[in-house]
Amino acid sequence: MAELSRRLFIGGSLLGVAGTGVVARGAEPEEGGGGGTPEGAAPPEPPSGHPRAMGAVPIALVLDGADEEATVGADETALHWLRRGCGITGVKESCGAGTCGACTVTVDGVPQVTCLLPAMALHGTRVGTVRALGGPDPATMHPVQRAFLAHDALQCGFCTPGFVVEAAAFHDRWRSNHGTAEPSRDDVAAALAGHLCRCGAYENIHAAVIAACKGEHDDPAALSFDRVDGPDKVSGTAEYTVDVQLPGMLVGLAYRSPHAHARLQGLDERAARQVRGVRAVLRRIPDGGEVRYPGQEVAAVAADDEAAARAGLAALAPKWEVLTAVTTMEASQAPGAPAVYPRRADVRPEAPAASEGPVLPAGLDGNLRGPTSTSILAKPRAGRKAVEEAAVSGVVAAGTWRMGVQLHTTLEPHAAVARWSGEAVEVWASTQSVGWLAEDVAQRWKLPREAVTVHGRFVGGAFGAKAGLQHEIALAIELAREAGAPVRVALSRPEELLVGGFRPGQQVELALGVADGQLAGLTQRAYGESGVAVGNLIGYLARIVYDTPRKDLDDYDVLTNGPPGKPMRGPGGPASFFALETAVDMAAQQLGEDPVAVRRRWDPNVVRQHLYDWVEALPAYKDRGPVGADTGRFRRGTGLAIGGWFEFYDPNTQVELEAGPEGFLARCNTQDVGTGVASVLAHTVAASLGVPVGAVRVEVGSNAGDVHGPAAAGSRSTASVVPAAQDAAERLLRELEDLGRDRGIDGSAVPGGLQPEGGGAVVPWAEVLAGASTVRVRGRRKRDHKAAVVPFAFIDTKIGRVFPGVVNVTTVEVDTRLGRVSVVEGWCGLGVGRIVCPALAENQLKGAFVQNVGLSLYEERRLDPATGRLLSHNLDDYRVPGIGDSAPYHVHFEERGFEHVRGGSVGLGEIGGVAVAGSIGNAFHHATGKRAFHMPLTPKTVLEVLR
Ligand code: FES
Repeated sequence: MAELSRRLFIGGSLLGVAGTGVVARGAEPEEGGGGGTPEGAAPPEPPSGHPRAMGAVPIALVLDGADEEATVGADETALHWLRRGCGITGVKESCGAGTCGACTVTVDGVPQVTCLLPAMALHGTRVGTVRALGGPDPATMHPVQRAFLAHDALQCGFCTPGFVVEAAAFHDRWRSNHGTAEPSRDDVAAALAGHLCRCGAYENIHAAVIAACKGEHDDPAALSFDRVDGPDKVSGTAEYTVDVQLPGMLVGLAYRSPHAHARLQGLDERAARQVRGVRAVLRRIPDGGEVRYPGQEVAAVAADDEAAARAGLAALAPKWEVLTAVTTMEASQAPGAPAVYPRRADVRPEAPAASEGPVLPAGLDGNLRGPTSTSILAKPRAGRKAVEEAAVSGVVAAGTWRMGVQLHTTLEPHAAVARWSGEAVEVWASTQSVGWLAEDVAQRWKLPREAVTVHGRFVGGAFGAKAGLQHEIALAIELAREAGAPVRVALSRPEELLVGGFRPGQQVELALGVADGQLAGLTQRAYGESGVAVGNLIGYLARIVYDTPRKDLDDYDVLTNGPPGKPMRGPGGPASFFALETAVDMAAQQLGEDPVAVRRRWDPNVVRQHLYDWVEALPAYKDRGPVGADTGRFRRGTGLAIGGWFEFYDPNTQVELEAGPEGFLARCNTQDVGTGVASVLAHTVAASLGVPVGAVRVEVGSNAGDVHGPAAAGSRSTASVVPAAQDAAERLLRELEDLGRDRGIDGSAVPGGLQPEGGGAVVPWAEVLAGASTVRVRGRRKRDHKAAVVPFAFIDTKIGRVFPGVVNVTTVEVDTRLGRVSVVEGWCGLGVGRIVCPALAENQLKGAFVQNVGLSLYEERRLDPATGRLLSHNLDDYRVPGIGDSAPYHVHFEERGFEHVRGGSVGLGEIGGVAVAGSIGNAFHHATGKRAFHMPLTPKTVLEVLR
């Protein structure tokens, strides 16, 4: 199983690739200094007179209220000095370009980003970091920090210290000027416009800041919150992988291919090793080997500091023979285009996986791989026949939809630290799967499992591209072994944007046929654009909604010399439901029926049937008026779309519970990437034991104790952890009853303690456990009360019998003159069973909405078609939504339908976003009367549609 999971989740290593059939463009040797990345060659050693050569500068300042004297580099940034020189983890490094605000501090009371600020500019100033605001004890916190906790205005927490510093400054100004008057959303958005939250916690940030300004969080005693790791996040004490500092730790950097397709003629490892401070050099591509995409790792160095590492990269001086590349889907399919993988046998295991599930076998014709059919059990071409029949006597809705790629770009980049001790390795990683990662490391380096320790307590965002043994982790491990010292490898923002992962683009050709008002059949051909990666699968999503066996669903990979796509939150869902739900709306229009009525008739899913009742009663939907009713420059419209997902769970999940004089401890080898699974675990255990949540400590984010936990992938965490936690709690209560009997308290477990058999006051757990040895039990995830879809687990995964459902309703406003589309308000009806932590669940859905608004309207990766290099290589050019793009979002939970599930809860991270693009597309049509078939709906696209 470990072998299988590694094949599926690591992707291919693309090492030492040899190939034939490429068209040589000619030799292009690079002169010395050619090392570096496509986004800029590594700088050589500075010449004399360069600021860095000018040496150190003394500064004196007041830092967080204390006098501080230091010596800083003449070209050192304030961010670098605060983090590395002062060890302040609450000043986060993320974009490095002054865009995201994660590194914000106050300088003489004014918020400033520190990634662009010279350290010596701090001389003579008063600097305030998040550390000075208070915490992690809530009693010492600034009101804004408490408000962030109370309103759950965070998820992964990586952006949070920067937001908090800026919001606290705004709060203090507001309170001194306006007392407890309520600021508007626009006031808050203007104040926080310089910050980005990739998790999309904006709506709760709005609520938190407004409430703090109104004085609602001045009293620490009134604080109540659900996120158990929240205090560490709002106070900046949470330690992420990029914050890890080990004695003697080296900096590891990769030299990445500047070319989309090239043959390496040679590089000078010896020269790199001779650079002062360089401790290790690694090769990824041998002389004569080819690279297949820009950004592919070629070599790496570990050195005492970043400057030495960059000098080492520069000394590599690689020489290349540049080969003809295909960088777009169109070029890839042109006659005579060079093949990315000349032979089918090259595809696996060399090609990375673009999807979360297994990469199924498929044919290869040039650069077209497929089809992979999800219609294998259906009659061949049944869908096509149905559509052809409907064209004669019914209704057909058809079109070609296109959705661009979406970069994951988590605010904490891919990062890893590795340290060897003999034949054991310790790894800190920004990962969404501590368990799988430990298995993969053990297998790849042929180590016993107990020789591998993985830490991932705090993870600064993960949306699908951080599962398993990612490249930066392998680099850190190998460099650390060669150097004999700990090594940290963290991607820069340009690297993150280039190779950190992206949701593959999709082109979907879809036609549905309607006969006698019923869905008669469906054809879909989907072409995934995922660079050198393979395995795009979206047809299965059209399979799980709307009931007809007559569906032809084929998926293809269109290979290019681009970086590999990776699964991203609800993989395939946005493109699939954009196409399908637009087509359903088109059919409803032709039938002259309400879109909800048509869906209700075609959809057998009991969960969504409940949600149709909800949406029909929703004023925003039922009062929305006819299509295209607005006629001015600004036109509003409201659309809906449905979506589906799966009840995935990891049947091997365990939860270990301890009880002792110190209280209760819950442990699971899962990781909280911001989704809140640590809180779900704490709340579940607390409810089962009848104790306050604060009485339960939680340990997640490591493989300690081998307590198997689920990866944060496929929305399996809640459905896996809750039943195992309940089982553990039941076992613990029985053990505690036995312990009580041993101690002369013959009673039954009740909330808070033991109820003596003979009556009388409940004996509290603290008294039962006083002076006792630790009691330890382990609970397991038992089977659901209905059989799973397949009886066996596949890569720690089972699929439950009932599929969750979602209905999204969105109102947009279209500026018909400038082509801008903005979201005005959104609603989400969701059926995922019992909600364990409502505030955190809502937060997840709001974040999914923001991310999919970005996908639908703003986010656009730009590659230079001539070279394949990334043009949108920073967070200014690649525009993710900011707080000003956020809109009010309302969530309705439909909890019926999952009574057969152990614990009653299934996951919601993926399904929350899959239908957003479809609802925006249909809202655009409702506003303008025009259909949009391409996303993102940038002004250029919109004006073309409206023309
Ligand atoms: Fe803002 Fe994750 S909570 S980036």
